[in-house]
Formats: sequence, structure tokens, C-alpha cells
Amino acid sequence: MNTSEQGVYYITTPIYYVNDKPHIGHAYCTVLADVLARFHSLFGQSTWFLTGVDEHGQKVEEAARKRGMTPQAHCDEMQAHFRDLWPTLDVANDDFIRTTEPRHESVVQEALQRLWDRGEIYRGEYEGFYSPRVEKFFTEDELVDGKCPETGGEVNRIKEANYFFKMSKYQDRLIRHLRDNPDSVRPESRRNEVLGFLAKPLQDLCISRPKSRLSWGIPLPFDGDYVTYVWFDALLNYCSAVGLYRDEARFGRLWPSVTHLIGKDILTTHSVYWTTMLMALELPLPRIVAHGWWLIDKTKMSKSLGNVVNPLSMKDKYGVDSLRYFLMREMVVGLDADFSEAAFLKRHNYDLANDLGNLANRLVKFAERSMGGVVPEPGDGSGTPHDADLRAQSEALPGRVRELVGELRVEQAVETTMNLVRRVNRYVSETEPFKVVKTDPARAGAAVWAALEALRFALNCLWPIMPGKCHALLKAIGAGEPVSRLDDLAWGGLKAGSALLLEAAPFPRFDVPEFQNVPVVPVGSKEADSAAAIAVAGIDPAAKVEAAPQAVAGISFPDFAKVDLRVGTVLQAESVPGSDKLLKLQVDLGEPQPRQIVAGIGKAYAAADLIGRQLVIVANLEPRKVFGNLSNGMVLAASDDAGPAVLAPGRLIPAGTRVS
Ligand code: ME8
Ligand code: MG
Repeated sequence: MNTSEQGVYYITTPIYYVNDKPHIGHAYCTVLADVLARFHSLFGQSTWFLTGVDEHGQKVEEAARKRGMTPQAHCDEMQAHFRDLWPTLDVANDDFIRTTEPRHESVVQEALQRLWDRGEIYRGEYEGFYSPRVEKFFTEDELVDGKCPETGGEVNRIKEANYFFKMSKYQDRLIRHLRDNPDSVRPESRRNEVLGFLAKPLQDLCISRPKSRLSWGIPLPFDGDYVTYVWFDALLNYCSAVGLYRDEARFGRLWPSVTHLIGKDILTTHSVYWTTMLMALELPLPRIVAHGWWLIDKTKMSKSLGNVVNPLSMKDKYGVDSLRYFLMREMVVGLDADFSEAAFLKRHNYDLANDLGNLANRLVKFAERSMGGVVPEPGDGSGTPHDADLRAQSEALPGRVRELVGELRVEQAVETTMNLVRRVNRYVSETEPFKVVKTDPARAGAAVWAALEALRFALNCLWPIMPGKCHALLKAIGAGEPVSRLDDLAWGGLKAGSALLLEAAPFPRFDVPEFQNVPVVPVGSKEADSAAAIAVAGIDPAAKVEAAPQAVAGISFPDFAKVDLRVGTVLQAESVPGSDKLLKLQVDLGEPQPRQIVAGIGKAYAAADLIGRQLVIVANLEPRKVFGNLSNGMVLAASDDAGPAVLAPGRLIPAGTRVS
């Protein structure tokens, strides 16, 4: 596996079924592949990025029949929905493969013929249960209540002659391969899942379908009465697209460095079927990365359930860069994540509109007003400790991002970069160029230069996530084109005198619609008080209806990091009529507008005493209504018999500073 030179990075996505249009799950996987390809190219590797569509098999044949079309006409039309979507999401795939293309079909037939000639495929009698929805066979044991174990859908009993791939003979080698190569399947939990699956004896794989039952497939070269099982056909796309049996030099250069990015729904087909197929074909084995699912209200988003989010409408509404940012920042690769428009808008407003967009806007507008509209001169290097710190954090960023992306911790790479953006914001408050300019324009200029230079580092590291906006912002701050290698980022690269030009706010804020699903509890009811108390204690009152929470031994750091804790300064406080427990606070979190937060601390604190105090706030809790008042965040407090005591930083800290 992956024994080739470090210099090549070949990444693939699943080829998607053309039975329906793409949804945000497909968009996520393809954008992640694009982001990884862009990063690896910035790391100096020569990259190749393949995506495409899976056009054969029963699902597609059925979809075509329902539309009264031939399968080929249906595919010709549907593939365009995928092919044409990618450029609009700034996905820069190098190739797009369709499994009906001759370049693919001929390779599938050649691979089948070779395996047949070498006795890796045999003819046998098949008896089992077939689930059309996942195009898989199951034994009677594997069924759940007589239904498909994967979808719960109907299965059909089938008995017929078929062709089989001798998969079972590779079981031991596969187990050894997975054990010996931590990189074979990532993340680790997924590798263990496959090893767990392999504890049972592996069956041989039925790789044919009689034409009488299914005609939409690639004919077996050694028996014209059969077509190839869709998975045996589809998996080979990864090889046929890069020259297997056709251009061995090209294939030999790319193939040994392949990474298959997939969703966890197709882990077995890749780590077991495909890996053993490659063993039989005597080809190098791939590295597989399985990501989790986007959920809607805790349920998988899927075509069959009809709860899908359309990536095009999200993009049209909020812009491609914000969509890519959200997808990459919100999901930890390997885990599931919830998709909600409210969460999307928060990321957009806090991270992009506020932290990044406002910063760039303020700096450029200030330099336009006070510094002739060009990048000012850097200082003489005898800066303050703030300068040393800003430079050190900037210089450390590319290396750290490279490490994190190498470990597939993409959301951490984004967060680390955004931490530099937040550091620049703090640097601007520390050095106050807007004030200093009146007395010491050179010092103010040096501070603006350093802030822009640090921003240049951050924007280059965000470029794979938001290529369009980062490109535009780099131009706007006088930094020109993005670097082509992260190694080329060197402090001092921003040239004084370069023109600054920012035409409009780069990330306009969007209003967050009031949260819909929160029950409005009648004023003064018992329920209201307990709901408020629970909300303050950090438990979602709506969660009461769910099963008791499972005992959790420990949470991972990425899970902890999902909680956005911030220092907030109380600007206003008043009691909530009808409750002696609730206070309505207006809290400065360093955002353009203060937040309203309802807190159940009224018995322990008088409203007036809280004004001016600093508190620790959970800033990314879903907004909720408490006693008819919108509460957008939560105050942290510890309670004993004497009542709640609020948590506060040990000294005065700028509002909005992250607590970690
Ligand atoms: O399985 N969240 O195609 P497919 C995240 N043709 N990703 C999701 C998702 C969700 N809710 N839903 C789908 C097939 N995906 C085969 C693949 S490969 C040789 C053949 C993504 O159209 C995810 O990457 O059902 C998943 O693996 C893929 O779409 C499945 O797409
Ligand atoms: Mg699927």
C-alpha cells in the first residue's frame, strides 16, 4: 500500500448513483475531496482528483423505467446534474468518469477476463435474499425480521446460477493487511469496525446478474447471458480512470498513492470487496477514509427518506464560500454532524462576517482613509511583545495546518486558522492603530502592516476551503495571488505600497430567523420555571422526551471544542415579569450587536449588580424562548444550596474572548 513517492496524491470520491439529483451529503464528500486536493497541492504534492457517476444496476434501471426512459437516456440527463454542480461549488476535479464510458467498460471486461482465466472467478448456484435498494444479497441469517438489514426494506428470495469471486480466500490476508496498516482504513474506529466484521467467515462474492433479471450492466466477457454486478463494475472506476491496462506508466505513477474518500455507508464494499478484488488483481492496495453522515433532526439525510438539503439552493442563498466553510468546519471527519440552517447562519455570522470579514473591512477602509489606500510600511522590527506573538503565531500556522490536514482533522485546521484571525483582531485592539494614527502615524502604519501580513497567512491557509473569497480578499489586502506552496509563506512577504481595494463587505451578515422548534411555555406555569431552570443548568428541556442519556466515559477534544465558550460583558440586565428567577441580560460578546440571554440567576443576583460584570457564556447554544423572551446563549453558573454562582474570568478580558 501507498509505497510510492511522497510526491503524488490521488484522491477519489464515490461515484454517485444517477437515480436522483445530488444532495448536500454528496456535496460534502466532493467538497472535502476538493479541499484535500487543494491542501496537498499546497503541500507540494502533485495531485489528481477524480469524481464521477455510477450508472449501471437495478436502481438506475428502475429510476429510468419510472420516468419512461431508456437507462442510457436517463443517465445522459442525470449525470449532468452532478457534473455541472461541481464547478458551481468551486470543486476543481481533474476528471469525471461515467461507468457507461468505453474507457471504463473495456477495463471492467479485461479485469473480469483475467480473474476468470486465473480461476479467481467460478460458476455456482446462488440462493439468497436480494435487497434492490442497496443492490446486495443477504443470507437468511442476516435478515432482520425478514427485511433488509441495511434499509429495513423488502427483500426477494432468489435461486439461480451465477458467477462468484473467491473473496473468502483473502480473508486472512485482508485481516493482516488491516492490522498491519493503520492507514488502510481511517479513522481508527472504522478500521476496527471492518476488523469486527471480519471476525465472521467471509463469503465468496456473487458478481453476476442474469440478463433475464437485469440487463442494464456490463456483459461478462465469458458468458453473454450475464451482466456484471454493479459494485464489481463501479469500484473499478478508480483504476479505469487512471489508465489500468491502457496506460501503465500513468497508472503506475498515480495508483499507489490513491486515497478513497467515502461515506461510512459504503465502508464494507470498499474495505472488503474492493480491497480483496485488488489483491486478486495483484494491484497495490488503497487507503480508505470514511466520513460520517449529515443528519437532519438526528436522522440520516437520504434520497430514499426525502429529507434532503439541496446544495444549489444553499449556495444560491448564502454563497459558495460560506457553504464550503460550514461543511468543512462543522463536521469532524469520521463523525456524524447535524445540518441546520440556524447552525449554518451562526458559523457564517460569527466566523466569517464578524471575525474575518469585519477585520479585513476595517483594516482596508482605515488604510484607505488614513494611509493613502496602500499597504503601509512595516515597522523596524523593534515591535512590542504583541508583535512578536502575532508573528510567531502566523509563522507556526502553515506547519500546524499541514499536520492537522495530514491527520484529516480538517475542522481543526480551519479552527486553528480562525484562531489566528481572532489573534489579529486582538492585536488590533492591543495596538489601537485607529487611535495611535493621530499621534504616531508610523507606528499605526506598522500595526496595520503586521495585521494585514498575519491576515495574509490566514487567508492562504483558508484558500482550500474558500478559494473564491480568499483569492478576492488576498487581492483586497494588497497580497496579490494566493501562494502555490505553503512553504513559500514567509513573514515580510507583504509589500508596502501595494494597492488596497475592498469593494464591499466580504461576508454580509444574515439575520438568524427565530428558532422554530422551541415550545413557548405559558408564563407562570410550573413547566416554565422548570424549563428555564433546566435550560440554565445546560440541559435542553426538549431532550426530556428522549431516552435517558447514555453514560459517557469521556468526550474527545473535538467534541469539547464544539462548545463555544466566550467571555461576555453584561451591558444591561432586568428581571423578567412573572418570574422571580429569570433575568434578561444584554451581553456584549464582541459581536456587532449585543446578545439577549435569559438566565435563571435572579434569586442570587440583583439585575443592577450584574451590569458591567463579565461572565462565561455558551455562545453557540441554539436560541430558545424562555417565558416568551428569546435567549441566545447561556450563562454558566455553579449551584449549591445557597443558589447559583456565576463563573467569571480572573481578570478583565476583552468581550468575545474564547474560553478553552
Ligand atoms: O453508494 N451525509 O452512491 P450514492 C454525508 N454508487 N454523505 C452522504 C450522505 C449523507 N447524509 N448521503 C450520501 C453509492 N452521502 C455508490 C458508490 S463507489 C465505487 C459507488 C455521500 O449515490 C457519501 O459519500 O448512494 C456516500 O458514501 C455517498 O454519498 C453515496 O452515494
Ligand atoms: Mg447510498
